[in-house]
Amino acid sequence: MSPLPSQPLLSVKNLKKHYATKFSLFGRATRVVKAVDGISFDILKGETLSLVGESGCGKSTVGKTIIGLLQPTSGEIELGGARIDNLSPDAFRAQRKRIQIVFQDPFSSLDPRMRVRDILAEPIHNFGLARNAADLKSRVDDLLDVVRLPKDAASRFPHEFSGGQRQRIGIARALAAEPDLIVCDEAVSALDVSVKAQVVNLLQDLKDRFGLALLFISHDLAIVDHITDRVAVMYLGKIVEVAPRGPLFENPLHPYTQALLSAVPTPTPGRKTSRTVLRGDLPSPANPPPGCNFHTRCPLAFDRCSRETPVLRSTGPDQMAACHLID
Ligand SMILES: Nc1ncnc2c1ncn2[C@@H]1O[C@H](COP(=O)(O)OP(=O)(O)O)[C@@H](O)[C@H]1O
Ligand SMILES: [Mg+2]
Repeated sequence: MSPLPSQPLLSVKNLKKHYATKFSLFGRATRVVKAVDGISFDILKGETLSLVGESGCGKSTVGKTIIGLLQPTSGEIELGGARIDNLSPDAFRAQRKRIQIVFQDPFSSLDPRMRVRDILAEPIHNFGLARNAADLKSRVDDLLDVVRLPKDAASRFPHEFSGGQRQRIGIARALAAEPDLIVCDEAVSALDVSVKAQVVNLLQDLKDRFGLALLFISHDLAIVDHITDRVAVMYLGKIVEVAPRGPLFENPLHPYTQALLSAVPTPTPGRKTSRTVLRGDLPSPANPPPGCNFHTRCPLAFDRCSRETPVLRSTGPDQMAACHLID
């Protein structure tokens, strides 16, 4: 593998997204869900970063904030060194082309009344990428070819395809904009095991072929093993560990990462196999525990953990974890 350039493509700095869900008579927020509560990470050009964690920990909120569907509560998002979180709608449009998203459910994200040809033509048209009608047609054909769908798919409707094929259409639509980064939000989670592997392989090929960066969001740590360069583990709105794939899977440092990994069914030989079983449910992000927000479920928690919030600190090359045990 060629070395990755050091200038980050995407840089997320101390991002917070809080949802006010209840208000007093005078409009003051009385219940605030801290869905994303101060996270920072970079994605390099051509890199795959996986964002993993249990359902409800804030992954989709991160994805939606990055693509501009949600406004951050605070923090900064930079693309190629320039802020994109505070742009006017017009200025954002130009940047929007560079980041595309593939959602979990291709049924609800593809307009059932549109033929595949028109679904793919829409971003090409919106971003002014085709020189003329012939170019548009050849771009649509190429996209179908790239995601390995037959040419005649162009004249069909989404419901005529299987789940895996629909997800290929969703990927083709994302590629149509010629992005630098694709956010894949649980893009393979709803697919059958064998189809899942095919779509992951496709994403891997596209990434190599087009030098794409991916933010691969998944609650399933097993699937990211096949595709990722680095992994960021989220718990209740915060990143608790970031590491390259190898160290994360072979030597996870945070007890939460260890717990997630011990739930992965087929451990690779040489990997730590001690089982860490999590107690209890994910606490509410509207009322996170004090100190380390994982302490209520951590098998290794001691008194400091309920008093003091651990910060994410460097523990080795490229590896960081937020845990008092690592001090
Ligand atoms: N629009 C919203 N309004 C209020 N709360 C929300 C909203 N969207 C998400 N949440 C809450 O924010 C938290 C994180 O949600 P989400 O980002 O979807 O997590 P994940 O993708 O990891 O499952 C959850 O507690 C969820 O219920
Ligand atoms: Mg989600």
